[in-house]
Amino acid sequence: TVPMITLNDGTKIPQLGLGVWKMPDDEAPGIIMSALNNGYRHIDTAAAYGNEVGVGKGIAQSDVARDEIFVTSKLWNDRQGFDETLRAFDESMGKLGFETLDMYLIHWPMPAKDKYVETWKAFIRLRDEGRVRAIGVSNFLPDHLERLVDETGVTPCVNQVELHPRFQQAAQRKVHDKLGIATECWSPLGQGEVLGEPALIEIASRYGKSAAQVILRWEIQLGLITIPKSANHDRMRENISVFDFELSDAEMAQIASLDSKDGRIGPDPATADF
Ligand code: A2P
Repeated sequence: TVPMITLNDGTKIPQLGLGVWKMPDDEAPGIIMSALNNGYRHIDTAAAYGNEVGVGKGIAQSDVARDEIFVTSKLWNDRQGFDETLRAFDESMGKLGFETLDMYLIHWPMPAKDKYVETWKAFIRLRDEGRVRAIGVSNFLPDHLERLVDETGVTPCVNQVELHPRFQQAAQRKVHDKLGIATECWSPLGQGEVLGEPALIEIASRYGKSAAQVILRWEIQLGLITIPKSANHDRMRENISVFDFELSDAEMAQIASLDSKDGRIGPDPATADF
């Protein structure tokens, strides 16, 4: 079974979940039900993914109780600002069909818009009202995190950032550790681009595992929360089967050496404006 991580507000989150970026809304119910049947208890969606309705349907139609499933959604960039955030949250909840959400994240800081502090104040309100259990952010750089803490006194539970063997974010992780913020990895498999790496394939062969499983295991052993996306039933099962082997210190170091200066796949949060 998947271990739980305790966040800085005491909330417990399964360390591995299913990412659903790019999952079509009409396919989501079937995929979500299959994931729940295979032991997933953590689903990571976002308003921007356009599949909150399908995710909610899959959960409602499954045999697993709503309160046994940890669901994250995210506020999209065009809804930042105090009042707009409250409205966007209601819309997401209507689509998901939930009474309460487990975690809500600010999707991108959008520093040029300079609205993320007031957005965060709306998040604090939603949490204080009990409508969401845990609040966090995504793609926030260290100065954005420090500003939230300085101006509101409330530290995000998590920061979900791009993180995979080619883009390991060591400096960012150090800041999270200092502030007590859990690190979540988006595109934890590097969107599939790292899977042909010979070092990973060699390590995988020692355990009878795949390169994808070695990457996910590396993230688990680093104490990170990881949300691999798969719409395929076999790969979904494969991705959650990473709790029956352990990488050695030497193997962890070998994977650490795959980090690359230009390993980033997604946008740079400092300049991203969309
Ligand atoms: P698919 O949905 O067809 O399984 P990331 O989570 O890093 O963004 O990576 C997601 C991509 O990696 C998707 O294209 C997904 O395709 C693919 N993928 C997910 N799990 C595996 C796996 N175990 N082996 C190979 N490819 C995978």
